Amino acid sequence: MSERKLSGKVAVVTGGARGLGRGYALRLAGLGADVAIIDRNLRAADVYEFERKAMTAATVMSECEERGVRAIGIEADLTSRAAAKSAIDHVARELGRIDIAVCNAGGGTVLFADERQPVPGANEAADVVTTGTPSDCSEEMLARVLDINLKTTMYTCMAVAVYMKRQRGGKIITVSSTAGVDARGAYHPYGMAKAAIIHYTRSLAQELGPFNVNVNAIAPGIIRTGRLGDRSHMAGMTALRREGTIDDCAKVVEFLATDLSDYVTGRTIVIDGGLVR
Ligand SMILES: NC(=O)c1ccc[n+]([C@@H]2O[C@H](COP(=O)([O-])OP(=O)(O)OC[C@H]3O[C@@H](n4cnc5c(N)ncnc54)[C@H](O)[C@@H]3O)[C@@H](O)[C@H]2O)c1
Repeated sequence: MSERKLSGKVAVVTGGARGLGRGYALRLAGLGADVAIIDRNLRAADVYEFERKAMTAATVMSECEERGVRAIGIEADLTSRAAAKSAIDHVARELGRIDIAVCNAGGGTVLFADERQPVPGANEAADVVTTGTPSDCSEEMLARVLDINLKTTMYTCMAVAVYMKRQRGGKIITVSSTAGVDARGAYHPYGMAKAAIIHYTRSLAQELGPFNVNVNAIAPGIIRTGRLGDRSHMAGMTALRREGTIDDCAKVVEFLATDLSDYVTGRTIVIDGGLVR
């Protein structure tokens, strides 16, 4: 692990209760940052065996504390602007400031097991696979996918911008996807929501640049998490001939959250092993 160059800094990670978000939280905690996890389900790791097995403590907050930093968890649905503002205000009150925000909460067109309303007698562990096309997408799916990706990102950014402008400094990292860069993806309208995040990132970088706030996006490709399962059969589509790991993405987040990227803003870093050509 690198030196603790984020000591004294406070990082917020949305959707940090499992998967990639958990990886970002642990990486930033390892660098010495105090961490706030905001997730609609702080026990989201319980849903998938891959995530459950990765956990070294009951919660991601405890795992961060094991790295010698302060950590808090807030359960909030970030599709509401009021809920996002209240969660970020809570972080600032509890931890004193906000230096880094990783806007990772999001998801695809698949309705995942823990998003479903309980159906008596149904298999609660099952995901419901749905997808749309650019010429045919249900209103419900369009609203849901834009809400969980674009709105969660924008509302988190709006809330942290208040603190970062006041502090005259900060690092915002938004999360797009290769689906937001490559129009051939089959995940409509997910790709569209993730493309909008790239544009939002560029605009926000222009607005916050004079306040010494860097705003950049990452666009992961095929990364192994519990939610998406083993996709090693797709490795041949990448130049590096392997699926990506959570750590592959966390390393780029470290770059964007630290002074290594002080003169980088408004950019999108694709983390895909050469998938998009
Ligand atoms: N895994 C990949 O291959 C991949 C590739 C490209 C982009 N991404 C993006 O990376 C991010 C994380 O992906 P993951 O695979 O770790 O997913 P995941 O489902 O394991 O984690 C997402 C987390 O976000 C939380 N969340 C979702 N909606 C929320 C809301 N409205 N409010 C608060 N919390 C919410 C969930 O509870 C969950 O803990 C997502 O934005 C995803 O679109 C993932």
